[in-house]
Amino acid sequence: MRVLELFCGIGGCAAALPESAEVAAAIDINRGALAVYSSNFDHPVEVRTIESMETPELRKYQADLWWMSPPCQPFTRRGRYRDDRDPRTRAILALLDPIKRIKPPYIIVENVAGFSGSRTHDLLRKTLDRAGYEVEEHYLNPAEMNIPNYRERLFLVAGREKLNPLKVKRRKAKSLASYLDPDPDARLMVEPEEIEKYHRAIDIVDVNDPTDITACFTSAYGRSLVRSGSYLKVGDNELRRFSPTEILRFYHFPKSYVIPRGLPLGSSWRLLGDSLSVPSVQAVFSQIPGL
Ligand SMILES: C[S@@+](CC[C@H](N)C(=O)[O-])C[C@H]1O[C@@H](n2cnc3c(N)ncnc32)[C@H](O)[C@@H]1O
Repeated sequence: MRVLELFCGIGGCAAALPESAEVAAAIDINRGALAVYSSNFDHPVEVRTIESMETPELRKYQADLWWMSPPCQPFTRRGRYRDDRDPRTRAILALLDPIKRIKPPYIIVENVAGFSGSRTHDLLRKTLDRAGYEVEEHYLNPAEMNIPNYRERLFLVAGREKLNPLKVKRRKAKSLASYLDPDPDARLMVEPEEIEKYHRAIDIVDVNDPTDITACFTSAYGRSLVRSGSYLKVGDNELRRFSPTEILRFYHFPKSYVIPRGLPLGSSWRLLGDSLSVPSVQAVFSQIPGL
């Protein structure tokens, strides 16, 4: 199974692939993301814009599966739901014509729930329907697989051949504490003035509450205290941020996966906020025969 990883970021798709799969190329415009990707995977990477890729070039990869994680901001409140009026949708729209011409056997598109019902989504569905794909869409959330992290995402799975039924594995429940670093970095502490100013709006989780689930970590984590992820209660009036390694654990990345030493915390959080929960990706892979 040859996979073309488009908008690969730090490799949430690669992290979920079985060893038997081969990544034909991993493509992203962000050099920083690709540096993290390449510290973890040997797959060929290309720094470039997806819209600059012509049909013959895409055909050359002879990929069985095109994985696409295009930017989600055009389909969010923060991005004012600008949809196809947002230049960040240019890349996915530019792929519609190559899809029509090449008709790769399988395509998976991942995005936020707000993608559904957008004009971009409608154009994609029409392209896939006319090209003869069977299409299924699933909203998957690790919080529903016994993982204490909320990260609902829409996965559109399209196949020219029949798709397998979706298999979602519920994990063995683990405590929030088991996701934490044994010796957290002091830089994670939130300043008391910030707590005072935003205390009503901050999402706080407590290791002593077995029902607590961390909120979705976004690329604004570390910059904005509001609606960008959860904060851990560590004392009566003390809170800390979750570290990048803890977020990788919530996403169930392999234990061997590393964020390169020296990558600033802010950059790590930005990249992780854009990435994927591996069990959700593995669930949609269950639909692809041969993966
Ligand atoms: C939602 S993130 C996907 C992250 C990825 N799934 C991961 O696991 O890290 C979108 C990615 O698309 C990249 N991107 C945005 N516009 C692009 C374009 N026009 N061409 C190529 N890559 C682009 C961004 O740099 C970002 O890494």
